[in-house]
Amino acid sequence: MADSGTSPELKPKTWGTFWDIFGEMLVGFMNVPIGARVLDVGSGGGSVLYPLAKRVGPKGHIIGVEICDHCAKNTASEIERCGIKNAESIYLDARQTDFSDAFFDCITAGFIGWDSYFDFQRKEYKRPDSLMKEITRLLKPGGQFGMSTWLLQEDLDWMYQFLTSQSFESNKNYHIENELGWRKILTYWDYTEIQVLTEAAKYEYNSLDFWWKEMIDYDWIVHDEDKAIIRSVKDLAYERIKPRIKEGKIVFTRKALFVIGKKKKPQ
Ligand SMILES: C[S@@+](CC[C@H](N)C(=O)[O-])C[C@H]1O[C@@H](n2cnc3c(N)ncnc32)[C@H](O)[C@@H]1O
Repeated sequence: MADSGTSPELKPKTWGTFWDIFGEMLVGFMNVPIGARVLDVGSGGGSVLYPLAKRVGPKGHIIGVEICDHCAKNTASEIERCGIKNAESIYLDARQTDFSDAFFDCITAGFIGWDSYFDFQRKEYKRPDSLMKEITRLLKPGGQFGMSTWLLQEDLDWMYQFLTSQSFESNKNYHIENELGWRKILTYWDYTEIQVLTEAAKYEYNSLDFWWKEMIDYDWIVHDEDKAIIRSVKDLAYERIKPRIKEGKIVFTRKALFVIGKKKKPQ
């Protein structure tokens, strides 16, 4: 791997371990050339962006775009703090950019979620895909697009089942996409050399409090629930999760689907 000039003490802070595991996997699965200019759609905490910056080296450049303002700012300040010279993070909707056609050698999109455009059960589009349209415009012919999506988030499933077993209203807030749907999307947009990878990884929450904070952050509990009810749900959840605790850690499996393809070159 090429060195982007980041010293080991200045490791950028990301959202956490499983994001980093799967971000590394996406970049490792793709064939991103050294020196490439890459767009990272929805860069979030930078778990795809930082491995990309390492991969392309000092002659390459990564632009991370984010519609979450504070996510874009946090990543930008980590880039600055760590002295990473070949990456930037900007607040921008990837569906509408001013970059010129074919500006990027490669484009990544980690865990964005395509179910608002595509029905993965029926395997057909339900509305125009403005995101893939822009990605395809920005990617040079022959350039590679790579994405990831969740197939399993065991921790969220556990929480969902726990809450519904207690008759608490909760949203199952992730949607399962599938390989066939993604093959259809990429074929529709004229991508070739489509490759698919499925990988699982175990993720450890180091403490009950950290696990609970993550679960609350996922918006499981309807916002107008009263604080006392949330406290009692928490006490019960702490009790129920106990059998899963091993040496102080709670271990869950996450499984992701990675799909890559090349934008067809004109004949
Ligand atoms: C689940 S996060 C994943 C972050 C990162 N890609 C990773 O794999 O670790 C998805 C991010 O995509 C961003 N996002 C969704 N749609 C976007 C769009 N049209 N343009 C830019 N960012 C977008 C969201 O704000 C969110 O932070």
